[in-house]
Amino acid sequence: MDVKKEIARRRTFGIVSHPDAGKTTLTEKLLLFGGAIQEAGAVKSNKIKKGATSDFMEIERQRGISVATSVLAFEYNGIKINILDTPGHKDFAEDTFRTLTAVDSVIVVIDVAKGVEEQTEKLVEVCRMRNIPIIVFVNKLDREGKDAFELLDEIEEKLHLKVTPLSFPIGMGYDFKGIYNIWEKNVNIFSGDSRKNIEETVEISDLSDAVLDELVGKDSADNLRDEVELVKGVYPAFDRTEYLEGTQQPVFFGSALNNFGVRELLDCFITIAPTPRPKQSEERLVEPDEKGFSGFVFKIHANMDPKHRDRLAFIKIVSGVFERNKPYLHVRNKKKLKFSSPNAFFAERKEIVDISYPGDIVGLHDTGNFKIGDTLTSGEELHYKGIPSFSPEHFRYINNADPMKSKQLAKGIDQLMDEGVAQLFTLELNGRKVIGTVGALQYEVIQYRLEHEYGAKCTYEPLSVSKACWVDPEDPKSEEFKEFLRVKQRFMAKDKRGQLVFLADSPFTLQMTQQKYPSVKMHYVSEFKD
Ligand code: G4P
Repeated sequence: MDVKKEIARRRTFGIVSHPDAGKTTLTEKLLLFGGAIQEAGAVKSNKIKKGATSDFMEIERQRGISVATSVLAFEYNGIKINILDTPGHKDFAEDTFRTLTAVDSVIVVIDVAKGVEEQTEKLVEVCRMRNIPIIVFVNKLDREGKDAFELLDEIEEKLHLKVTPLSFPIGMGYDFKGIYNIWEKNVNIFSGDSRKNIEETVEISDLSDAVLDELVGKDSADNLRDEVELVKGVYPAFDRTEYLEGTQQPVFFGSALNNFGVRELLDCFITIAPTPRPKQSEERLVEPDEKGFSGFVFKIHANMDPKHRDRLAFIKIVSGVFERNKPYLHVRNKKKLKFSSPNAFFAERKEIVDISYPGDIVGLHDTGNFKIGDTLTSGEELHYKGIPSFSPEHFRYINNADPMKSKQLAKGIDQLMDEGVAQLFTLELNGRKVIGTVGALQYEVIQYRLEHEYGAKCTYEPLSVSKACWVDPEDPKSEEFKEFLRVKQRFMAKDKRGQLVFLADSPFTLQMTQQKYPSVKMHYVSEFKD
């Protein structure tokens, strides 16, 4: 087995977008190109349908689908592509943030009419913080939308990216005629009224070629010439090193629904996108082609059937190879574990595999050993960094509603938090437990799962908290910090890792507190130290 070759042919990435921009449709079209599915509509959308945001059973149904689409792998031109699913729904944003720790690059989908939307801004910010290489796909060009240059400006401004178009639309909406592929220097023409297929691909090394006028008409041809001239004048030439460092982002235009501009995107993607990247652990930087195996858990999916309470832990392989039935070190527990049936993921199914390579995701059956962020290695004591918790948006006290079941409740809460469903804070003053979530929906999920999986009952009580801030004093022994702890005693809590958190009841309180105690730094993210 040639590990280096296997690493070189892997591309592991995520597609991120605001809901409805076309992530599912694009994913499906990519799978169609890879021959991984035979017809459109085969990949079920795992998004929460509109109007169903409070429908709990709908969420459960979606959860079932989402395990099937968590990782979609397929081969295209000899390249093994792993697409990691990132839920667009904002209540699952935390899940998406964690998944972004396991991707080597991302494709951002933007709706040409809606432009840059809120969820996209947040997700791209996380990608930028980690210097993840980004390609932008502007979708729905078959509809009327914003002017291409206006949109490129908006992308630069709102997403703080430095873009360079690698394709350019010829017209838009009803007048959409095709795509000029700047990357390959050819033109793809949209056919007839149905506009379903690429009629022909014509190589155009020189845009002044009269062939272009014949293809799209003189007006459109002249327009394209002007626009491409402008592109060249305004935007820098594509630079792969900058793209890989996360300082330049190529942009493609197309229509996922009509299969337009997708092949251009895919062909360029497999050429320029990074192979599995090295990853920083607390101890050292780990390279994919090292001999020793290492990987980390970025997602845990519980089996909802109470009779089979096992969970599937998703591991991203960082270095070495992962083999079935070999003992590996669970670094946090200091235990050796063997896995007899590791799952690899394909387009719509999972299968037991004997060997997996860096960039791959394996699903390991787990009876409660794993937490999100855990590291698994062939022996070295490594701790991978970078699965932070973000401040939740909602906070409630959780109470035990059945005193006979307090053990079950504690175990249930513990395991649900390990899965990353929500965050638990314990108040310093009285030991009361507070559940923090990104979306209000999770409270229903937790209550339901505690009852059905653990036989425990809980109730919630409102709590007036707007943000959780991880506390980082410049000097833990200073008088200022001691006073802060004394005055703010009622608002101090510990998170699950034992880190100190300040629960601010309003943005105003937070601001006042920061002014009064400037040496006590506050962070909205749990990992703030490098
Ligand atoms: P998401 O995963 O990002 O949430 O978006 P999804 O792919 O589900 O697409 C959202 C809607 O946009 C879908 O329509 C889809 O058909 C449509 N769409 C995707 N790409 C294009 C495109 O290139 N052009 C046009 N005109 N529409 C596009 P829907 O009516 O909400 O759902 P469906 O019933 O068609 O599945």
